[in-house]
Amino acid sequence: MIYIIQKNMFDDLKVLFTEEEVQNRIKELAEKLDSDYLNCEDVVIVSVLNGAMFFTIDLFKKMKTRAILDTLQASSYVGTESTENVILKKDIDVDIKGKDVIIVEDIIDSGKTLQVIKAHLLKKEPNSLKIAVLLDKPERRKYDVDVDYVGFTIPNKFVVGYGFDVDGKGRNIPYIGYIDN
Ligand code: IMP
Ligand code: MG
Repeated sequence: MIYIIQKNMFDDLKVLFTEEEVQNRIKELAEKLDSDYLNCEDVVIVSVLNGAMFFTIDLFKKMKTRAILDTLQASSYVGTESTENVILKKDIDVDIKGKDVIIVEDIIDSGKTLQVIKAHLLKKEPNSLKIAVLLDKPERRKYDVDVDYVGFTIPNKFVVGYGFDVDGKGRNIPYIGYIDN
């Protein structure tokens, strides 16, 4: 399905999760991560730009684990259509060899982006590699990737807000909304 960005399209968003619901769930994830990584010395969080910036910052601020924060950038979407042609635009800077790495991503949809990122980071020989996503759209999965931490499992809707965009816009809407049509 192709969405055309219309002038007032963000006015008609339905609320999927309020700001408060999002923050409460992220707090639970942060507590789970803190307890799972309690005995790890070198934890590295790899945030997938741009979409996961919002989730990463809120999650990381709620965590007590003194992890290193790094970023990488992958791109696969044009409008609301996944091209499944994932390009790595920016690599991480930290040496993750022997370290405990958590990939933080906004959403798993087809699974292609995370499959590519996971394979790329595994080549750098981390001690462990886990994945945390805020949203999981299981109906759309085409590539099998194990996700270790999930904020919310959602139906097949195109979401906007709290980092989620349509062609770069809508990221700063404070709640997670969806386009209803
Ligand atoms: P995947 O490779 O198909 O799993 O797609 C993952 C990427 O697609 C995410 O990093 C998002 O940037 C984007 N994406 C998937 N679904 C949505 C959505 O509903 N709204 C906005 N972006 C989405
Ligand atoms: Mg993304």
